[in-house]
Amino acid sequence: MFKRTFNDWWSFKTANTKEYTHCYHNYPAMMIPQVARALINDYKPKDGIKLLFDPYMGSGTSLVEANICNINAIGTDLNPLARMMAKVKTTHYDEKKIKDYFSFIQSNLVFYNDSFVENRDFSRISNHAFWYKQEDLLKLSYLSQLIKQCEDCQDFFNVVLSEVVREVSFTRNSEFKRYKMSDKQLKNFSPDTFKLFETKVIRNIKGLSQFNTVKNSCSSKIYDFNSVTEIPSDIIGEETVDMVITSPPYGDSHTTVAYGQFSRWSNEWFGFDEAKILDNILMGGKKYKEVSFQSNSITPELEKIKQIDSKRYQEVISFLSDYYHSIANVAKCIRHGGVVCYVVGNRTVKTVQISLDYFTVETFSQFGFKHINTIVRRIPNKRMPSKNSPTNEQGKTISTMNNEYIVILQKC
Ligand SMILES: C[S@@+](CC[C@H](N)C(=O)[O-])C[C@H]1O[C@@H](n2cnc3c(N)ncnc32)[C@H](O)[C@@H]1O
Repeated sequence: MFKRTFNDWWSFKTANTKEYTHCYHNYPAMMIPQVARALINDYKPKDGIKLLFDPYMGSGTSLVEANICNINAIGTDLNPLARMMAKVKTTHYDEKKIKDYFSFIQSNLVFYNDSFVENRDFSRISNHAFWYKQEDLLKLSYLSQLIKQCEDCQDFFNVVLSEVVREVSFTRNSEFKRYKMSDKQLKNFSPDTFKLFETKVIRNIKGLSQFNTVKNSCSSKIYDFNSVTEIPSDIIGEETVDMVITSPPYGDSHTTVAYGQFSRWSNEWFGFDEAKILDNILMGGKKYKEVSFQSNSITPELEKIKQIDSKRYQEVISFLSDYYHSIANVAKCIRHGGVVCYVVGNRTVKTVQISLDYFTVETFSQFGFKHINTIVRRIPNKRMPSKNSPTNEQGKTISTMNNEYIVILQKC
């Protein structure tokens, strides 16, 4: 319906995706930095670019790439952990200060004794005795205690701690959802909390060091607004954005990627609000009774899903309705000649594939954009389920997300 071009160059099969601050913290469905970089290089508006916006910034990949290319950026995400990561990844911390604080932390770890731990109240972490060994909770608490003394560098170390908080829990690390390890796995599970922390700090200092070789005065601003409802005009005025590079969710968090569950360990550890209800407030979390968008491009697919399973149909139209309203709001912020790049996945629901790339082109077209290109790329190294069970019948799986669609449009 809308032209797609398959191009294997965009798969970046052998690329190092952990350059600069991209190594800091794992996050579900991260964008490949090389994709953002190539989009900026090849598709930025010819008459100049000052501001890039990412309405679903996640860990901040496109913001980091914008700043490296001397472009200011604004990002928003409803997930507090994502905001912390994006902030830290786009901050040029003083490397010497970070190293000094790290030495201070290390020298205290050498003499660790659990009687040093001040905060022993873990009630903010739901079911903590089920998910953690007490000795690990105490060690994590001690790390938090030391990090609090790192003044203006606390969040640099908190991002590291966040990964450790998840990795020493009894969750299966290969899953985004909260599944406890089997008894057999638990028997052999004895993570070294302090060692993990130290190894990750060393890794992140290397990333920081590379990021600090970038010399310009560009920066990123991080927000928590929901583009589905409104983009505050005091943050982004109408027609002020030159370029959008983003990868939105491809469905609601309950039936696709569970950003809230993945982040719950950290969001609870740091006492962030909404840790428990995050998946309900992300796009598609609120249920619509009826379609709240205009589309012809995917009507047959939606009709098929409706006939097979009305509940799944309602989930799909709820997500698409939110997505439609978000695009309507984003479209207003783009200046004439501005470019939007949406990296989307076409998921399969009940054996029916939903062409989110068509829907994206069609919706932006309704708001005065022309379609430039849709590049289809393979996803060799994105952490995504490549098979799912579309009918929920045991053992019946089909391959789902092997390709990604980079939809590029320009405002007329
Ligand atoms: C595919 S991820 C983005 C990944 C990002 N490109 C990266 O490289 O890390 C999608 C993000 O959308 C966020 N999200 C979902 N619904 C949202 C909404 N209504 N407003 C803002 N962010 C939302 C999720 O929390 C998640 O972080």
